[in-house]
Amino acid sequence: MHWPVAIEQLDLKALGGLRLADGTPNPKLTMRTEFLETWREMIALKKTGKVRHLGVCNFTLEQLQALLAAYPDEPPAVNQVELHPYLCQPELVAYCKQHGIAMMAYSPLGSSDSYSGKSFPAVGDAPFENPRAGAPLLQNELVRSLADKHGATPAQVLIAWSVAKGFCCLPKSVQAHRIAQNLGACDACALSADDVTELDSLNCGWRYGIGYFAGYFDCPNAPWYSGKGGSSSTESLSSHRKLVPTASEKLGLSKPS
Ligand SMILES: NC(=O)c1ccc[n+]([C@@H]2O[C@H](COP(=O)([O-])OP(=O)(O)OC[C@H]3O[C@@H](n4cnc5c(N)ncnc54)[C@H](OP(=O)(O)O)[C@@H]3O)[C@@H](O)[C@H]2O)c1
Repeated sequence: MHWPVAIEQLDLKALGGLRLADGTPNPKLTMRTEFLETWREMIALKKTGKVRHLGVCNFTLEQLQALLAAYPDEPPAVNQVELHPYLCQPELVAYCKQHGIAMMAYSPLGSSDSYSGKSFPAVGDAPFENPRAGAPLLQNELVRSLADKHGATPAQVLIAWSVAKGFCCLPKSVQAHRIAQNLGACDACALSADDVTELDSLNCGWRYGIGYFAGYFDCPNAPWYSGKGGSSSTESLSSHRKLVPTASEKLGLSKPS
């Protein structure tokens, strides 16, 4: 299930965005518990034998809790989300590990497509900033210094970090020599536990995929939800969290009939 959301059209702009001009949720797009009904249908597909394993994508911790509460015997095999040193998602990762859900890391090299309209986190202490940021992930100073230390490339460092974290890493390249380089990452770059911890310190909640347009991509329950107003860089991450309702408030946990 690619998104925990029901969308009537594929083009969000054509749909009118996630919220109307007055700030109310766009009625054409709902993001509450539809995925529970979708999951029910996917379980039915599994029973036909046509599908072996079911996975989800872009699910938050709260949405996984809702899914497991409704279908404790049919947890997803995998949750595919954006994961890299600028976006470590430690709570989500811990929850998935605890429940035997594999984590699949997309945009592990920091992508090249930023739907957010920003290319990389700034240097600083505000949400989505980091004292060691200030560059695209592949050009980050720490990543480059670890590449030099191990005689590897920055891409190989990032892939080796992802594998060391236990993720199924999904680097994308259209160039044969890079595909070969990426496949050889773990042989080329044996990161120490200290290297991994140091890379973890780049975490600042930065999403390449989606996330910083106030109003447009600002919808509670969305994986990219960043708090009231959506794009404030002055509020702390913890104050963002306080604005987010609890899982039971956000999601009616009742099992769909
Ligand atoms: N499920 C989802 O919602 C979702 C969302 C986003 C992405 N994804 C999936 O995740 C995969 C990867 O994500 P992504 O494409 O966003 O980002 P990514 O893999 O982090 O970055 C891809 C970029 O890195 C470059 N690159 C690849 N290998 C390199 C190397 N060794 N050295 C230097 N540059 C290198 C690529 O250029 P070249 O191609 O020119 O080498 C491309 O510009 C894709 O297959 C995508 O389908 C899933």
